[in-house]
Parts: sequence; C-alpha cells; structure tokens
Amino acid sequence: MTAVWDGELYAANTAHHRRFDDHVLAGLAPPPDGTVLDLGCGAGDLTRRLVGLVPRGRVLGVDADPSMVRVAAAAGGGPEYAVARAQDLRGAVPDASVDLVVSTAALHWVPADEQALVLAEVARVLRPGGTFRAELGGAGQIAAARAVLDEVSREHGGGAGPWCFPSPQEYAPLLAAAGLGTDGGWLRLVHQRRSMPDADALVGWLRSQVLIAYEPALEPASRASFRAEAERRALAALRRDDGTYDQDYVRLDLLARRAGEQEALRSRG
Ligand SMILES: C[S@@+](CC[C@H](N)C(=O)[O-])C[C@H]1O[C@@H](n2cnc3c(N)ncnc32)[C@H](O)[C@@H]1O
Repeated sequence: MTAVWDGELYAANTAHHRRFDDHVLAGLAPPPDGTVLDLGCGAGDLTRRLVGLVPRGRVLGVDADPSMVRVAAAAGGGPEYAVARAQDLRGAVPDASVDLVVSTAALHWVPADEQALVLAEVARVLRPGGTFRAELGGAGQIAAARAVLDEVSREHGGGAGPWCFPSPQEYAPLLAAAGLGTDGGWLRLVHQRRSMPDADALVGWLRSQVLIAYEPALEPASRASFRAEAERRALAALRRDDGTYDQDYVRLDLLARRAGEQEALRSRG
C-alpha cells in the first residue's frame, strides 16, 4: 500500500520546498514553444511556474496521487495534469515528446528497486538532447527526524521510513544505464537547512508529508497512537537551540541530458 496524500493539506505545507524552486529553475532554458513535464508535481506550485519557461509551449504535471492532481488542476494557471506513476508514464506522455523533465521532492518516494524504471521513462519521454533536472532526498536526508520517527514506528509494529535516499555513487550507474548523461551537468549532494520556524510548521510538515510514509506498514488500529506519539516525540527532540524546528535536508541534486541523435549513433559504434 502506498502513502495516501491530502492535496489541500500538502498545498498548505510546502514553503520549505518553495524556497528552493529558484535554485531548481536557475539556468533552465527549454525552447519557448517546447514541452515541459513536472514529474511528481504534487499540488502544482512549481508546475505553474514552469509555464513561464515555455510561453508558446506546453506544461504537463503528472502525479501518482489523484488528490494532488485535483488540487493542482483546480488552481489553473496553464498546465495540464494527469494521474500517472513515474514508473509507467506510457498512458500519459508519448515517446520523445518532452524538452525538459523537472522533478522536485518526489522521486525518493519511489522504491529503490523501481528507480531504474523511472529513469527509463524519463529517457523515453525526452527528445534526444532533452534535459532532466531533479532534486530528491539523498543519503543523510532528515536524519534527526528519521531517528525519532523510525523508533516510534517500530514501537507500533511498523518499520523504518520507506523512502529511497540515494548517494550520487548509487544513482550515477542508474542514470548512465538509462542513457541520461551528466557531462556538462552534475550529480551531487546538496546540504540545506530548511526552515520550520515554529511548532505549527513542524506539525504541518509531519502531518502533510512525513507520517503518511510510515502508515501503510502499520495496522490501521495503531495509526492514531503512532501519529500522536510521533508528533509528541518529534516536538521534544527536534527543537533547535534557536527555538526553530529547522530540518537538515540533504538533496540529491542533478542535471542530466538524454543523448542527442549524433551521440546515440556514435555510442552504438
Ligand atoms: C513531497 S511531494 C512533492 C510535490 C511537488 N513536486 C512539490 O515540489 O511540491 C511528493 C509527490 O510525489 C508524488 N509521488 C510519489 N510517488 C510517485 C510516483 N511513483 N509517481 C508519481 N508521483 C509520485 C506524490 O504523490 C506527491 O505528490
């Protein structure tokens, strides 16, 4: 069973992601009449900004969760949306139809053994020479929060957080196998302090996008107790000396490119 999202609750708790959207978008320049795909678009905050990159083109937001897509579509602003899993976009996105794939805070929700499927889909939908710009949780992501939440989850019969937080060393061969090259781009871990200014912000973050990751592994009867105890212990353990609940994020940050026609022909000999 996968996490169940509440699109409206999520939309009210994404400020810690939005502060890094400029970083993700910096330097991206698809053709003005091109097509941009936001993979795991959530409530569509970044998706709406992508419209400015392709004033005569098309923006498509895709997400596995219908509640997210509903909220994103209701906000309008130009993009089209579809419900689809990143592991299989065939019903939503044709081959070689996209100039730029962007993905923020989404791909660590895909199990480690399905990451290759996602990257194969990214390569399939990109035109030759197209760009893949992504950031996702990387090795070391929210370590302090996970230590608390994993412990509470185990006490309630569950397991560790199910996310896939890869290192660059683990991800590089997957990108290469999909035909996504980082020459001229990058693949690196970026350490960030993300703002959770007060207890309400921490609880909003936990409820909208963190505790839902643990719940599928818990018996339904244990979930309310897990939530209450997880929030209580997180509030006690994660308060910083300056009074904030800021979290240490470690992101796998990448810019890759699908090989162009000429490069593809050369590499085939
Ligand atoms: C933390 S939200 C990020 C949303 C958005 N990109 C943003 O920056 O606000 C993670 C999103 O990834 C989506 N997601 C998780 N697994 C997915 C999958 N296999 N395929 C597509 N979307 C997925 C979730 O439904 C959720 O909307």
